[in-house]
Amino acid sequence: MQTHEIRERFTNHFVEAGHTPVPSAPLILDDPTLLFVNAGMVPFKPYFLGDQTPDFKNGTATSIQKCVRTLDIEEVGITTRHNTFFQMAGNFSFGQYFKEGAITHAWTLLTGAVEDGGLDLDPERLWVTVYLDDDEAASIWRDKIGIPEERIQRMGMEDNFWSMGIPGPCGPCSEIYYDRGPEYGVEGGPIADDNRYMEIWNLVFMESIRGEGDKKGNFEIVGELPQKNIDTGMGIERVACLLQGVDNVYETDLLRPVIDAAVELTGAKYDAGNKDNDVRFRVVADHARTGMMIILDGVTPSNEGRGYILRRLLRRIIRSARLLGATGPVMETLMNTIMDTMTPSFPEIADNRERILRVAVAEEKAFSKTLEAGTSRFDEAASAVSASGAKVLPGAQAFELHDTYGFPIDLTVEMAREAGLDVDMDAFNAAMQEQRERAKADNKAKKHRNVDESLYREWVDANPTEFVGYDQLTHDAKVIGLVRGGEKVGEVSQGDEVEVILDVTPMYAESGGQMADRGRLLMGETILNVNDVQRVGKKLWLHKATVQNGGLDLGSTVTAEVDGAWRHGARQAHSATHLIHAAIRQVLGPAAVQAGSLNKPGYLRFDFNYTDQLTDAQLQEIATITNQAVDADFAVNTIETSLDKAKEMGAMALFGESYGDTVRVVEIGGPFSVELCGGTHVEHASQIGPVAVLGESSVGSGARRIEAYSGMDSFKFLSKEAALASGLAAELKAPTEELPDRIAQLSERLRAAEKEIANLHRQQLLASTANLADEAQTVGEHRVVAKHLPEGITTGDLRTIANDLRGKLQAEDAVIVLLSQVDGKVSLAAAATQQAVQSGVKAGDLVKLIGQYVDGKGGGKPDLAQGTGANPAGIEDALRAVRESLAE
Ligand code: SER
Repeated sequence: MQTHEIRERFTNHFVEAGHTPVPSAPLILDDPTLLFVNAGMVPFKPYFLGDQTPDFKNGTATSIQKCVRTLDIEEVGITTRHNTFFQMAGNFSFGQYFKEGAITHAWTLLTGAVEDGGLDLDPERLWVTVYLDDDEAASIWRDKIGIPEERIQRMGMEDNFWSMGIPGPCGPCSEIYYDRGPEYGVEGGPIADDNRYMEIWNLVFMESIRGEGDKKGNFEIVGELPQKNIDTGMGIERVACLLQGVDNVYETDLLRPVIDAAVELTGAKYDAGNKDNDVRFRVVADHARTGMMIILDGVTPSNEGRGYILRRLLRRIIRSARLLGATGPVMETLMNTIMDTMTPSFPEIADNRERILRVAVAEEKAFSKTLEAGTSRFDEAASAVSASGAKVLPGAQAFELHDTYGFPIDLTVEMAREAGLDVDMDAFNAAMQEQRERAKADNKAKKHRNVDESLYREWVDANPTEFVGYDQLTHDAKVIGLVRGGEKVGEVSQGDEVEVILDVTPMYAESGGQMADRGRLLMGETILNVNDVQRVGKKLWLHKATVQNGGLDLGSTVTAEVDGAWRHGARQAHSATHLIHAAIRQVLGPAAVQAGSLNKPGYLRFDFNYTDQLTDAQLQEIATITNQAVDADFAVNTIETSLDKAKEMGAMALFGESYGDTVRVVEIGGPFSVELCGGTHVEHASQIGPVAVLGESSVGSGARRIEAYSGMDSFKFLSKEAALASGLAAELKAPTEELPDRIAQLSERLRAAEKEIANLHRQQLLASTANLADEAQTVGEHRVVAKHLPEGITTGDLRTIANDLRGKLQAEDAVIVLLSQVDGKVSLAAAATQQAVQSGVKAGDLVKLIGQYVDGKGGGKPDLAQGTGANPAGIEDALRAVRESLAE
């Protein structure tokens, strides 16, 4: 059964049972705790937590969610079942059916006959696990479903208690396994062997909230969810593997074609007895798909966060392909292959093929360069090791290759083996471990937000903030929470730094790129200055404020007042951002996908995916279209509607919208700009004022940034530029439009003058060396001129002087050694007359001798040689050494 069909059967099964089908959310959601969506339930989190009421018909839903998990990346290809990208098929009940319903639904789909829409798995091969003390689930399996007692096993926190690995919803779970038979491992059920018994479905009985702690069950349960829920996840890829009768998840209809393409590209064979190669083929297939799907959802390679994960995946593909024998580029073929197999299930790939290819191929080109640099670094290190007679490449070197050149360790090991060396893996692992601990410490610091969230939970649940700031700048509000130094308090007084929670607020909290409002909270004599406003979840506004005067108690009523000038500037900048976004897409096409933005009064920046630098003409066109839109005074409309309607209107979907949400669409000039946006905007475009585009730059590979001023700040910027230009014009006594030519002429003249000066200087130096021949001294049997000349004589000039002196002294057994310094480096030349050469002097050897003292390199013939050095401090010692060697 093809994967696509398994998906359809799953969805039909649950739709027939009354579930609302929900499309997969993007891999990237607006959740700071998650790099990628890693489970089917993630987009439903607010419903589990009770932050939002689901409006699904029967309180039940079903989805097939795209997921990425890279924690087990080292396992890929080694086990039969680890994919970094997978499709999790799930059914969800929010306060509706519970354990019995979930178990029955799963069982009927898995064992139902094909003609009834089922998957027809042999019930005798299915095993289940339940959480230690979950007798209820165990008895449903035994008594209602009829699974014999010996095929129901119990497991602890680590296996059968599910959470997202971070604070949030959780609960005991029950897992369904399929026995693949004795050729895959030992008897005894999932407890004994999780390779032979493959987990295919996890039913989570979601009823609690967990706190901080690790994945392995070392966390506390901090509360109960408002209702009992069901969250299940069936691995589409694993079921496909079983139903297609293939050995592992890399050989299904979706991935096998990539392996076959890699066989063609590399010349190596799959499944021909070489285990290492087989793993590499599977890595290529798995990572090609994950990389493709991540790029599809808007990520480009970079050195941190999501971009780094993408980079790592793409590099592992290239590395693996090389180890398999590929010598040329592979990315284009692999990406095309995986896009072909995935498009039936994800039709949106079709519109993005070109962009996906461009990003992946650019990374391949970039890595091929470091691969070369790293390879020569490796060669250096390996020959040093071999030269010293050792057989082991130090761990520090392997770590440097990993860290600086992005070399995965097995590449280094493979290369070392070819050079007849081992790698000190203990030292390498120690260095890696150290780095991991540093990263962990770093992460801990960042995750601080989670701790905070539980502090605010009671308000999030019971008193979400009402935001009235779209049309009001002042509003009376009740103080329903005060937090100082991370703790709830009952009152605050002058000088305190506090977080104030109000029942209603006109203040905009930072989101969607727009910075938070500034403003004040007032009550009689009491004044709090609000410096920042942040949201917890999407529901609670935290006003971060300093008490400037007086004090405030819980329960007081204050007047919350937005700083009007600030808001005016923020609206201008945010609307200008939308105009620039629209202009960018007009000029560069739809491949220029938004990657981030920031706007605050007077200033904005907009990041987007685009590999090439923009030309001046493109930038000019973007600026012109933007200002034409201002000039046209387009109307700005905001519309609240469903996500589907918004998409129909052509709204550009931003990350982080969940299905079922009412979304806010901001439309400027009808179809000119339509975006999903919660920000504050002007009412019509002319209120933005002029938009002055400052320029564009690169932000990491594959992404560009445009910066601009808006409103009065544009005017200030433009008039400053104008003043600068007229100042220059006055100084140069030329009209402003002639400035570019004038300045070009001036710099041309300056360059000519500098050249002239350098020439004169050189002639002077040469003149001052004219009498050097007279300074020859007798050293041993030779006449020797060995001198440290004044600074500024290049190696080339020293060579000319030395050659000249050699001519003057040609009748004698004479040796000339000259050194100087240029820009902190040593320049040097040596010459020997014919007689000197006959008596055994070699100019080349003298240069080498000097090199030992000045950290230099160079050489030449016996009669004339030259070089350079890095260490001027060694010059005098070098001259002494030259004399000593000539004296012998
Ligand atoms: N959330 C559970 C899992 O990821 C079931 O969907 O396994």
